[in-house]
Order: sequence, then C-alpha cells, then structure tokens
Amino acid sequence: MSEDTVSASIPTDQLISLLLSLPDEAKKIINESDAPYDELKTIILGKESEFTKLSQSMRFVPKEDKQQVGIVLNQVKKSIETLLSEKAKTAHTSNEEWIDVTAPGVRPPVGHIHIVTQAINEITEIFNKLGFTRVRHPEVDWDYYAFEALNMPKNHPARDEWETFFIEYPGKPNPKEEKYQKLVLTPHTSNGQIHEMEKGILPIRTINIAKCYRRQIDVSHTPMFHQFEGMYIDKHVSIGHLKGVLDYFAKAFFGKDRITRIRPFHFQFTEPSFEVDITCGVCNGTGIVKNKEKCRLCKDGWLELGGAGMIHPNVLKASNIDTTMYNGFAFGFGIERSYMMKSGTQLDDIRLIYSNDIRFLKQF
Ligand code: FA5
Repeated sequence: MSEDTVSASIPTDQLISLLLSLPDEAKKIINESDAPYDELKTIILGKESEFTKLSQSMRFVPKEDKQQVGIVLNQVKKSIETLLSEKAKTAHTSNEEWIDVTAPGVRPPVGHIHIVTQAINEITEIFNKLGFTRVRHPEVDWDYYAFEALNMPKNHPARDEWETFFIEYPGKPNPKEEKYQKLVLTPHTSNGQIHEMEKGILPIRTINIAKCYRRQIDVSHTPMFHQFEGMYIDKHVSIGHLKGVLDYFAKAFFGKDRITRIRPFHFQFTEPSFEVDITCGVCNGTGIVKNKEKCRLCKDGWLELGGAGMIHPNVLKASNIDTTMYNGFAFGFGIERSYMMKSGTQLDDIRLIYSNDIRFLKQF
C-alpha cells in the first residue's frame, strides 16, 4: 500500500485530531530528548516528520474541508514553532556551545622575541654606538672564505678546530675558479671579514652577526649557534683600540661588576691573537656553586667569550689591502654564550636556549 493511499484514507476529522495531537507530542520530544536544537527541529518539523506527512495529505482532503484543515495545520505549526523557539532560548542559557557576539573577546597570549634575537638587538645597538655597522654575509659559503683566505690553506691542521659541516655542491665546481670548490656551513663569522674586504671600501667598521655550524653538542656547545664578529680596518689601528672596544662592550652588555681578561692565543688569521674571557655569571667567578659543587658551566670561574686579534697581514693581502698603509683588528664572540654570561641569567646549559620549552623562554 502506497503512502498516498494511507494519507488519502484518513477522514477529515481523524486528520484534524491527529494534527491537534502534534504539539503535545512535540513538547514530549523536546522535554525528553537531549538532542541539540537543530536536530529537534528536524525530528519535529523536518521532511520525515509526522507533521510533514500529515500536511502532505492535505491534497486528498475534500474541497469543502480544505479551509478548516488548513487553519488547523497553520495553528499546529505555529504552536510547534513556539515550543521550539522556547527550547532554543533555554539551550543558550545552558552549557551548550553558543556564541555571544557582543561578549568582549579573549585576548590571545602575546609572545615576545626569542632571547637570541633580544641579544642580537642589544649587541647591535651597543656596537652602533661605537660606529660599527651591522652587516650580514652568507651562512652557506665557499671553503675559500671560511678557511683559505683566512690564512688556512687546504689541509692545514688549524681547520680541525672548526669541526665543519661540508655540504654537497648542487652542480659541478668550476675547475678554473680556485675559490669556488667546496661548500661549507659557515663554522664562524670570520668568512665575513673577506667578503667585507673584497668590497674594496676602506676604512671598514662592521659588526657581522650570523648563524654558525659545528659538529659539537654539550652544556656549552650547540651544533647551530650565533657569532658576532667585529672588524675595524683603518690607518694606525692598535691593540689599544681593540682593548677599548672589548672593554666598552663588556661593561655595556654584562654590567660593571663583571671582569674580563685577555689571554695570548693562536688563530691563523690574527697576529697577535687573544682569547677573551669573562667571569662566570652562574658562580660569580668562583668556580663553585651551592653545596660546594663545581660550577657545571665554567668549572674555574672563567668563561670564554671568543677570540680576537690584529688581522694577519696575509689576510689583508689576500683581499688586496695595502698593508703598508692599513691594518686592523677583529674579534668573534658567541651570542648564546654571551647571553648566558649576562648578569642575572643564571643559565648553566646552552642547550636550554634551543629546547623550545615555553616555560623556559617565558622567563626572559
Ligand atoms: C672563532 O670562531 C674565531 N673565528 C673568532 C675570531 C674572530 C678570532 C676574529 C679572531 C678574530 P672560536 O672557535 O673560539 O673562534 O669561537 C668563538 C666563540 O664562538 C666561542 O668562544 C664561543 O663563544 C662560540 N662558540 C664556538 N663554538 C660554539 C658552539 N658549538 N656552540 C656555541 N657557541 C660556540
């Protein structure tokens, strides 16, 4: 038996009484069901609902009864809609998800710049005050700039100290071009010295800040870190100028209570060369922390900031600088290490800086 036949067979008074029973049924469904408002509306008034089925039988109602059934149908629909809209209102006051577009918004948490970027900005500002201009040079560079032009010819043992990552060259090196043979991830910022000198503009007073890469990892080493490298080339530059710049930086960045020292050292690209140290900020230069334990970071109260020296004449000559007129100094320090040494930082493991732990980063 088809649905039409069923609907057609309903006499008018039975149809009216079925229609009139719908609001009560709707009320029952609304009160007893946990379904959300939209679902309830579909159950009660949707395509498959009892109401829709009964209203479809309107076309089989005899002509003389159509007006009466139509009036009942409209009233029933109105009262069901009223019930549903009341349900919608109470749903909004319950815990169900809804949006009050007039409510004040919730502020998203605002982050801050990473501590390494903070340090880079601060260091740049200090050197700007001394007339040094911030420059950038490639972080993937030819071996020539990272070593050879820095007085470290091929196979020189000094290269070992830089524990370099060599990388594949995506093409064939030009055999005629000695400079462009092997590519490295720059193990220090000293490659920038050569790039800067090659520009042929003197005097030079630059601060090169870049990422460096070495195959190292422990409490004071990460495989990727940053260095800032100062370079000053002019006529009559002396170690006194270098010492003055280093002292100015140490006081401005670390605070007046920190002491620096310079030790003789050896770099292939500076002569004379120095290692610059500063008293450790974790143990205040004593080498001992709480419970009389040795300071994990420095062990003897001093931390190495980096290297410095007067630029080797061979390096100047490789970049066609007249060494009878010009000389200069350079220094290269680690950004992360410098930040760790700052008063009040109390960091005893460099790897924390790159741990991406928001609880750690939030403190700075
Ligand atoms: C150099 O890299 C020289 N190019 C510095 C220099 C520049 C000397 C100009 C003379 C003239 P060194 O290898 O010591 O030097 O590194 C300098 C500093 O970089 C270190 O003292 C340390 O602060 C930082 N550093 C080096 N390796 C790492 C590492 N793996 N992780 C974090 N910091 C590092």
